Amino acid sequence: MKVLVVYGHPNPKSFNGAVLESFTKGLEDGGHAFEVSNLYDINFDPRFQAEDFLQFTGKPMPSDVQVEQKKIARADALVVVGPVLGWFIPAILEGWLQRVFSWGFAWTADKEGMHGHLKHEKGLYILTTGNPEAFYKATGLGDAMNNILKPTMTACGIKSAHVEYLYSVSAVDDATRKKYLERAYQLGKEF
Ligand SMILES: Cc1cc2nc3c(=O)[nH]c(=O)nc-3n(C[C@H](O)[C@H](O)[C@H](O)COP(=O)(O)O)c2cc1C
Repeated sequence: MKVLVVYGHPNPKSFNGAVLESFTKGLEDGGHAFEVSNLYDINFDPRFQAEDFLQFTGKPMPSDVQVEQKKIARADALVVVGPVLGWFIPAILEGWLQRVFSWGFAWTADKEGMHGHLKHEKGLYILTTGNPEAFYKATGLGDAMNNILKPTMTACGIKSAHVEYLYSVSAVDDATRKKYLERAYQLGKEF
């Protein structure tokens, strides 16, 4: 498969940077091709712009969005990698989804409802957290996030979506962090 990996962490030396490296190494070893869209590197503007509203009149999206849409169009699968910040995915990733999954490209709607236009086989989020799994379960935050993140992809036509959490990455010991990186590698290899 040709996989687009959208990466939303400002520091390449972070644990997220290591997750990205392990995951893409796994993709390579699994025989997949990939492209990384590193949103901080390209200085992607996540703010929905006045010009973005023109999509609803059939006009083209701004060129920065079109560049990202071409990356999606070249791929068979979409993977989002980043930390959980402020109870959700980082603003740069959320803004990427809001702007790039535009009307006419990713979806349309009529009186019957919404129609997804993406044809991708698979979607995946790999998210690191500060809080432990028990917190995500007890508060319902895990379900709440999954209930938004998965349909963001599947309602736009992507055939399946999964959210993989690597919990408490700043609190766990080195052996667990190593296991997380092995898991990221396997997710790539068995993609
Ligand atoms: C501003 C900020 C907000 C955060 N909010 C959350 C949160 O809502 N839930 C959570 O589990 N972790 C939260 N975290 C912790 C990050 O998810 C954690 O530091 C990150 O996953 C570690 O990965 P890194 O070492 O690659 O940065 C937050 C961290 C920062 C800096």
